[in-house]
Amino acid sequence: MAQKPEYCRVPIEVIKRYGGDFPFDLYLRLSDDKLVRVGHANDDVKDTVAHYVAKGVKEIFAIKEDYIRFVELMNKDLTAKFFDVKTSSEDKMEILQSSFSVLKESFVKIGVSQASVTLARELAKKSGEFISQHMATKDFFTQFKGKCSSEYVRSLFVGSVVLNMFDNLDWKTDSIRQHVMEALLLRDILLSPEDFVSIKEMRDTPKRLLGEVYNHPKATVELLTKDNCRDFSPDVLVMIEHHHERPDDKGFPGVVNENSIPIMPAMLIVADEFIERVITWAFAPDSRSLALNELAGIFKKGNFRKALNALTAGI
Ligand SMILES: [Fe+2]
Repeated sequence: MAQKPEYCRVPIEVIKRYGGDFPFDLYLRLSDDKLVRVGHANDDVKDTVAHYVAKGVKEIFAIKEDYIRFVELMNKDLTAKFFDVKTSSEDKMEILQSSFSVLKESFVKIGVSQASVTLARELAKKSGEFISQHMATKDFFTQFKGKCSSEYVRSLFVGSVVLNMFDNLDWKTDSIRQHVMEALLLRDILLSPEDFVSIKEMRDTPKRLLGEVYNHPKATVELLTKDNCRDFSPDVLVMIEHHHERPDDKGFPGVVNENSIPIMPAMLIVADEFIERVITWAFAPDSRSLALNELAGIFKKGNFRKALNALTAGI
């Protein structure tokens, strides 16, 4: 007798986006062990699903194997489009709204827990509200979120990785978690999409960056502490101040060396470098272990090493 297939839930927003060209069958659950097929592979299933959703259906299913194959295909395409500087910001926001679940699957595949991605998103929402209450940061943040949407999303995923790293540390607290997201969302509010392109292009020669880009970590801290403002925690400020430091001469502005970097910025920097690599390799199956290998050759000492150990244990 043929083995019964295993089913899994397909997020409705994924169906809405790709419903015009769905490469697998969709099912409704009638009871614990009974499912009925409502859409055939390559049919336009948007209307059919909209009809059931209007009737109160909340869950649509697919054969797990088919869905995983689809997610793997989409991973490559979406990641390439989403993190490509040429995709317009509006397109990126649309991709994000409708494909967060698919992007999330990519991160889960490299070892980031589903709970961490969800928590990072919640904390980012809270942090965004906090940042938007401050006169000095409000406009910069709104602009950053609108114009640099892929960097905004990258921050969400770097945050998820850091939250995963915390899972194995006993000093984590809710406020530290919140501070990580604040630092991630604030660190680049003074930059434009073009600045991110130049940082990428001059990755190995950061001294060639324009002064305002080279000094943005310090300038951001100055903005946050203007008029003796103490609303932002020292933790947040130190993470922002050092977020481009690296132990291999490729960091800037180079105010702290690998023996004296504090632990919080070290966690962010290591997570950032990890995400950078897995995105560049489009979540290929071995990208996780390749990235960890490369990082082991860079982060060898002090808190950088501790942070890398937390990453290796956490994902
Ligand atoms: Fe930055």
